[in-house]
Amino acid sequence: MSARNILVTSALPYANGPLHLGHMVEAIQTDVWVRFQKHRGNQCMYVCADDAHGTAIMLKAEQQGITPEQQIANIKAEHEKDYQGFNIGFDNFHSTHSEENQHYSNLIYERLKANGHIASRNITQAYDPEKNLFLADRYIKGTCPKCNADDQYGDNCEKCGATYSPAELKNPKSVISGATPIEKESEHFFFKLPEFEAFLKDWTRAGHLQNEVANKLAEWLDSGLQEWDISRDAPYFGFEIPGEPGKYFYVWLDAPVGYMASFKNLCERRDDLDFDTYWGKDSTAELYHFIGKDIVNFHALFWPAMLTSAGFRTPTGVNVHGFVTVDGEKMSKSRGTFINAASYLEHLDADYLRYYFASKLTAKVDDIDLNLEDFVQKVNSDLVGKLVNLASRTAKFVQKAGGTLATDIHNPELWQQFVDAQTSIAEAYENREFAKAMREIMALADAANEYLAAQAPWTLAKDEANAEQVLAICSQGINMFRALMVFLKPVVPALTERAEAFLGETLHWQDDIEFKTGVAINPFKALMGRVDQKQIDAMKATNQVALDAMQPPATSSADSDSSDSDFEPIAETINFDDFAKVDLRIAKIVKADHVKGANKLLQLTLDAGEGHTRNVFSGIKSAYQPEDLEGKLTVLVANLAPRKMKFGISEGMVLAAGPGGKDIYLLEPHSGAVPGQRVM
Ligand code: MSP
Ligand code: ZN
Repeated sequence: MSARNILVTSALPYANGPLHLGHMVEAIQTDVWVRFQKHRGNQCMYVCADDAHGTAIMLKAEQQGITPEQQIANIKAEHEKDYQGFNIGFDNFHSTHSEENQHYSNLIYERLKANGHIASRNITQAYDPEKNLFLADRYIKGTCPKCNADDQYGDNCEKCGATYSPAELKNPKSVISGATPIEKESEHFFFKLPEFEAFLKDWTRAGHLQNEVANKLAEWLDSGLQEWDISRDAPYFGFEIPGEPGKYFYVWLDAPVGYMASFKNLCERRDDLDFDTYWGKDSTAELYHFIGKDIVNFHALFWPAMLTSAGFRTPTGVNVHGFVTVDGEKMSKSRGTFINAASYLEHLDADYLRYYFASKLTAKVDDIDLNLEDFVQKVNSDLVGKLVNLASRTAKFVQKAGGTLATDIHNPELWQQFVDAQTSIAEAYENREFAKAMREIMALADAANEYLAAQAPWTLAKDEANAEQVLAICSQGINMFRALMVFLKPVVPALTERAEAFLGETLHWQDDIEFKTGVAINPFKALMGRVDQKQIDAMKATNQVALDAMQPPATSSADSDSSDSDFEPIAETINFDDFAKVDLRIAKIVKADHVKGANKLLQLTLDAGEGHTRNVFSGIKSAYQPEDLEGKLTVLVANLAPRKMKFGISEGMVLAAGPGGKDIYLLEPHSGAVPGQRVM
């Protein structure tokens, strides 16, 4: 097979906040695929950039008292550091706020216009009369016209699910200034997407998309395409539209053009790359975009339509992945599961997460759960227990025998399993079925470990007479380890580098894997340590500090956490009798103690005026020192059934608010209340 020319991109992260593990699953999926292609001898280029334009970024800069240019430069440096920390091997990381991007955005726009695909007309929009700014729906909040819930966004109600226009909202307010928005008219430019209906109906079914994605798009295509508003009025941080002073390209117009711009920027630095070979209308190079499921319409409708109208090639594939959940739930700032890339890197090895995500990724759009317990277990069992141990248990015997591998294969049948597995492992990588590839690789690791356990070279080594056999077995062990590293190189680049230093060679996978005989290996050094739950706890603590420092996202709701309101919906209505069943009493905290062996609990001795005290365990240790509580009054749920816990019986519950961690607030009555009084 001749080498392929491939250009690959990940979605461009917004330059208004730090990278989180959602961004990393995408970068890791893309990077593993790219590294696999390079490993197989293909020319594969991986480009990305920061998505630097838009209102959110403009406002964020303003909030911090810096220019948007400074803001995007700061964020770019942070993003690059985080990506590097995870060993994401971009060939180029650029910015959409760049010369190249302005050039291609203008060019594409001019061509769309020349082809008659741009319309203009006046539209009426909400306008902030204090900030002098048109307001996108998410910058307006008010009372839901259907259910009267307060504090709802301008386009839909999170309470009752109603959708409406901002004009229907009762009591609308600008999120930015608090002013009441007015209606204002202005001219906007539109991309005439409906003219591409036939093209898109074909294109979305021509093998560029996963089936489930094509099916979803078919629903949209069948319900009729709308013209796409591609302009925004000043003030806006972006590119001014040629010939239209005061009008700017909407951020999503120039964002995908950023893929081209980043590649162009790379071409300028490299003589061996030609822009048109990859982007020209007749390009035979392959082009793949890796994206999340929330931005499919931009990549699989608008983008191919724009490209085809402007005389460029369209993508070979748009590869869509699902969202990261943590311990089964959507990442949430209030629950502390919104994990920043930097918090992870401060405490944990990037290869752990690369392997963990690889072991879960398929070519489907399913969400990917990071279960932290499973993470610890899987990394320790697979990478350390099965993989690294193969080398550590055998290397010392090879060293003792002089450091050179045996000249024959000890167990050819077993080795043949490794040779035979190559095709299907490579196919799984190619098809983005990484979970399948990891399962097959670990099945080989299991076979290797069973062989070693059965041969027990460490027992044989007790008798000098077995020296040759011991060397043969351990040489096979090293060869099987080497083969596994060849297969895993795209997933765990840092571990591979250490393994390569030990093996004394750079690993390739262009031809069949080879059984190494008679070559010297280097003294073995520890390749990878086990993960400890303590590191996870430390990561969570670091992350909580970072989350607390982040502004509440009032003006940065363009990030993917935007629909994650911190407000917990009010529970179902109850009548007074239901409420009266709960007997709440004022109680005095007579004594508070730590509980030996408990991470979260404090033991409280309470006086609720009953003539005897009660014992209550309360999960408030992260927020209170026992000595700060003694003598204070609080509220006790006095008729709660006693609960048997690991540390004893808890006779009730004290009331507290807050999301957890340091943010737990025990209720305390105004002074004058006395123990035993009922709270109604
Ligand atoms: N700037 C746009 C993309 C422009 S591409 C021309 C954007 N940025 S983003 O920062 O919000 O998201 C970048 C990528 O990360 C998207 O593909 C998005 O789907 C992905 N993810 C963001 N949060 C995610 C998870 N929680 N899980 C997995 N991927 C998610 O959209
Ligand atoms: Zn409502």
